[in-house]
Amino acid sequence: MTRSTWRKTAAVAIAMAAAAVIVPRDASPQTTAAPASVDRTRRGEARFYQHCSLCHMGRIVKDDVYDPMGPRLSGVFKNVTPEREKVVRTQIQQGSPRMPGFQYTFTPAEFEDLIAFMKTL
Ligand code: HEC
Repeated sequence: MTRSTWRKTAAVAIAMAAAAVIVPRDASPQTTAAPASVDRTRRGEARFYQHCSLCHMGRIVKDDVYDPMGPRLSGVFKNVTPEREKVVRTQIQQGSPRMPGFQYTFTPAEFEDLIAFMKTL
C-alpha cells in the first residue's frame, strides 16, 4: 500500500467510525450516553436563558457595568436549608411585585429541570 492509499483508507475508516457514533445519536436523541441528570440540567439551562436571563443577567451597559434588574442567582441554592429552598421555589412559582410568577409557564417536570440547573449555579 502506498502512503497516499494508506492515508485515504485511514480517512475513510475514521469517517465511518465517526458516522457510526453520530448517526444513532441523531436518530434517537433519547438514547444518548449522557446521564439523565445532565440532560435535565441542559433543559433547565435553556428554560433559564429563555425566561429568567432577561432580568437576572447583566445587560450590556456603559463601561461594561453589570446592571441586572434582579439579583444575581449564582449560589442561590448552595447549602440551603429545606425551608429556604421552599421560599425560593415559591418565589419562582408566585413571583413578586417586581418579578412575574411562573406557576403556569412550566410543567412540574420543566420546573424541576430549571431547579436542577439553578443548583449548578
Ligand atoms: C421581570 C424581571 C424578572 C424575571 C423575568 C425573573 N425575575 Fe426573578 N427576580 C426579579 C427581581 C426584581 C427580584 C428581586 C426580588 C423581588 O423584587 O422580588 C427577583 C428575585 C428572584 C429570586 C429570589 C432571589 C433570592 O436570593 O431570594 C429568585 C430565586 C428568582 N428571582 C428566580 C427567577 C427565575 C428562576 C426566573 C425565571 C424562571 C426569574 N426569576 C425571572 C426579576 C425577575
